[in-house]
Amino acid sequence: MEATIAITGATGFIGGTLIRQLASAGCQVQALIRPASMHKQPINGGVNWIRGDLADGDSLQRLVHGADTIVHCAGAVRGASRQDFNRVNVDGVARLAQAAAKLKQPVRFLLMSSLAAREPQLSAYAASKQQGERMLMETAGKLDWAVFRPTAVYGPGEREMMPVLRLMARGVAPLIGSGNRRFSLLYAEDLADAVMQWLERGRDHKLTYELHDGHPAGYSWQELVETVARLRGGGVTPLKVPLVLVKLAAVMNLAAARALGYAPMLTPGKVREISHPDWTADNTALSQHTGWSPKIDLAEGLRRTLGLGDGRGQRTDDRGQRADDRLQATEDKGQKTENR
Ligand SMILES: NC(=O)c1ccc[n+]([C@@H]2O[C@H](COP(=O)([O-])OP(=O)(O)OC[C@H]3O[C@@H](n4cnc5c(N)ncnc54)[C@H](OP(=O)(O)O)[C@@H]3O)[C@@H](O)[C@H]2O)c1
Repeated sequence: MEATIAITGATGFIGGTLIRQLASAGCQVQALIRPASMHKQPINGGVNWIRGDLADGDSLQRLVHGADTIVHCAGAVRGASRQDFNRVNVDGVARLAQAAAKLKQPVRFLLMSSLAAREPQLSAYAASKQQGERMLMETAGKLDWAVFRPTAVYGPGEREMMPVLRLMARGVAPLIGSGNRRFSLLYAEDLADAVMQWLERGRDHKLTYELHDGHPAGYSWQELVETVARLRGGGVTPLKVPLVLVKLAAVMNLAAARALGYAPMLTPGKVREISHPDWTADNTALSQHTGWSPKIDLAEGLRRTLGLGDGRGQRTDDRGQRADDRLQATEDKGQKTENR
């Protein structure tokens, strides 16, 4: 593909998956990287790394210089206060969109938002993602923009859902509250593929697109557990965790994060997000405008993510043990990648 893409967030989970696809499609890639994250470069060679930060307008001007498309994947997914999220997810979008709007050449801008932006009342994260979208639309001027709202994204290297998925793969499925919820999921490489399709065919629509793996009406917790059980070739035992306990843990974690200065994942806002009854999504608009359709279903995505088999051809007595061995091997591999 003959394109010069400026990308942010390439040292993260989603941006890292995307930059590999961009590089193998032959795109010229210039990527923002924070100086402290130089060691996290997801690929060797072929990328023009621009040192900088979303808080630094000059580095953003250098990033977008000469680009025909900007793909903004950087974002704050953990935080102890509204400000932690807004600084990156709102002000960062505004600053990058301003840098793009100043360019003389016509430029396209894709913002990686989140399905959470649909429910801004739930958390500071969700509100910041919606406000970031608004910021782009207000600042865009003549930019040709689009917003992607992926549902929960998983795959190798993901960190937020992974602890729960690993527990399930070991045969224990924590169920928070009633479990009476439906949610969509999306495998990271399918999301990267959607970006590639938008780059090729998604011009001039200026729309917000929802993305998921194409499974109609999403999944229930039970369906997720059954899929993992099939893959590991053995049972998965539900472990009921009362919602009130998780809420309490979230309050304590937030207080500890504020006292000790770390960015927490489990907060009262995150618990409200987790307990929300409907995180199903609709792919129709993006498929119509770009021809994209997701290729990796849940079983295949979990198999790749957790290193599990398909549950067939294993002897009954050693099924659980074999799944544990493979999971350990995947974790060791993941750990090596994270340590690079
Ligand atoms: N993961 C999901 O399930 C999911 C679902 C829907 C939407 N999203 C959205 O997708 C985006 C990426 O998520 P992710 O899961 O890939 O997150 P991630 O792994 O935490 O990556 C975040 C990326 O943003 C960069 N970043 C953060 N603050 C920055 C700043 N001030 N200046 C420059 N770069 C900064 C990080 O750089 P460092 O490496 O230097 O920290 C990293 O590259 C986010 O906007 C998120 O809201 C994610």
